[in-house]
Amino acid sequence: MLIVPSSSSLKLAKSVAKISGSTLSDVERKRFPDGEMYVRILSETLNMDVAVLGNTRTDSDILEMLLLLNAAREGGAKRVIAVIPYFGYARQHMRYKDGEPVSSKVITQALNNSSDEIICVEIHDEQTLSFSSKPFRNLSAERSMTDHFMNHVPDYVLSPDDGGYDRAKKLAESIGTRAAYIFKKRIDPKTVEMKLPDIDFSGKTILLVDDIISTGGTIIKAIKLLRQAGASRISVAAVHGVFARDSDRMISSEVDELAVCDTIDGPYSTISVAGTIAGSLER
Ligand code: R5P
Repeated sequence: MLIVPSSSSLKLAKSVAKISGSTLSDVERKRFPDGEMYVRILSETLNMDVAVLGNTRTDSDILEMLLLLNAAREGGAKRVIAVIPYFGYARQHMRYKDGEPVSSKVITQALNNSSDEIICVEIHDEQTLSFSSKPFRNLSAERSMTDHFMNHVPDYVLSPDDGGYDRAKKLAESIGTRAAYIFKKRIDPKTVEMKLPDIDFSGKTILLVDDIISTGGTIIKAIKLLRQAGASRISVAAVHGVFARDSDRMISSEVDELAVCDTIDGPYSTISVAGTIAGSLER
């Protein structure tokens, strides 16, 4: 198999290629004088299975993915797989107000145009999978999280809301500890109320785990509550570290450990999903 990296996922693509014994292609990238993007896959794609690996986080990421998928298709690839470690725009998976688009449908259908299959990691809402006319696999980061935390097991794995409790519970079970969740109520788009469960957290070690840290608002609020309740050690983990507005620096200064998966590359992406992606490509 040939792995073609988008510029959003160079490190992860290299690891996936190494683990799966695949060839990692070089890609030429430049901007035309008018600002338009140019990409070129510098490996033979004719009759190859080609996996193009990259995120759909920024507008430029999306365009690069679409151009690389099309380059593989036009180059006569036998099979083209879109591997999207962090599927951006997945939060707009329905029309909340009249006049809005269903953004995750737009992205999925655009990916469908030049690929035979989509693979992503822990998409924000599985509704997006139903928009695809091609096979669409949503991989779990549980194995990677378990490997990372099995040697420093906290007293509790805590989800910042009930929606993430399943993830916290599965992780707690695999590393041999207890799970709970914080009660979170959204008052309006900018305000949420959070309340700790009825547990004595004093002197306890806690691992807060979420699917995504975006602005960091949810996690920072949870950290404050746990500090007030006397928690002795707080670690924070998430699958996707978007970290808008430099929230990674703010969070890391408040906790004992901050670790996110390498679905988005960054200084805190110390949990690798490369093995999970490589395993899925082999299958
Ligand atoms: C909510 O449903 C998600 O699981 C995350 O808790 C949320 O998206 C995190 O966003 P932020 O970091 O902006 O609070």
